[in-house]
Amino acid sequence: MIAHANKPKTFFVKILRQDGPGKPSYWERFELDYEPELNVISVLQKIAAKAKTANGQKTTPVCWDCGCLEEVCGACTMVINCKVRQSCSALVDKLLEDGREIELRPMTKFPVVRDLFVDRSRMFNALKKVKAWIPVDGYYDLGPGPKQSRDAQEMAYPLSECMTCGCCVEACPQYSKIELLQHSGESKDAYEARKTEVFNRNFVGPAAISQVALFNLNPTGKMIASERLDALTEEGGIQVCGNAQNCVAVCPKKIPLTMSIARMGRETTFNTLRKWFDRRGDSKH
Ligand code: SF4
Ligand code: SF4
Ligand code: FES
Repeated sequence: MIAHANKPKTFFVKILRQDGPGKPSYWERFELDYEPELNVISVLQKIAAKAKTANGQKTTPVCWDCGCLEEVCGACTMVINCKVRQSCSALVDKLLEDGREIELRPMTKFPVVRDLFVDRSRMFNALKKVKAWIPVDGYYDLGPGPKQSRDAQEMAYPLSECMTCGCCVEACPQYSKIELLQHSGESKDAYEARKTEVFNRNFVGPAAISQVALFNLNPTGKMIASERLDALTEEGGIQVCGNAQNCVAVCPKKIPLTMSIARMGRETTFNTLRKWFDRRGDSKH
């Protein structure tokens, strides 16, 4: 916390702005009156309402994404003073301990929609690719499901806290930005299909690998464990991970990502070997 005597009267916020997908980015600087206990979202609300830069020029309201405001949805993730984190839990008093300016940039691994608002759809596509759900074949009463052991519950709970925020992929050297713009004359469906095809060929990222670990631990989810492991063995799968371990260091939920990656690495190997032996067994009959 800033000591009472050291409170600045005003502080500056420098924002890397972009007017739309594929457009050039530019910096704008804003000056705000200091108030105690602000978070970065409340600062952005003040900047958007004022829409005037520090040198008095009128500008457009800054755009950002947010939802829960309590570090649960992951939507407000951005790069704040060079560190990827959620803006709803980033406190101004703490950020100003190192100076009178706060720097905000959009995450660099996702296409910018506008300003600090990025398109994380590649992460949701990865969850679809690895089938990160429990398959049920209807909504009628199926009776009690199989029980999960206490050990499995304790292993699964931390993995279930993932909010698809993107911090892990922002830090991952193996995860490169993919930005595909819609061609003129290309239909929305064709554009979405082209994006899905490219996303599926590129690295799924640590969060999706960890979700395979979570759903394969579930007694009902296990039914399609092999399909999830197959998805992790395809192009863009777990073999792309270079084990740099940056992901685990930045996860705000402290998810043991490298443990998940190591476990899924072993399981994908067993899965491939088991299928190979099954095929050999079949061909002998
Ligand atoms: S694993 Fe952690 S850093 Fe990655 S998306 Fe989930 S919550 Fe965010
Ligand atoms: S351990 Fe793998 S997934 Fe995590 S940052 Fe390194 S390369 Fe990326
Ligand atoms: S608004 Fe949901 S995590 Fe910040």
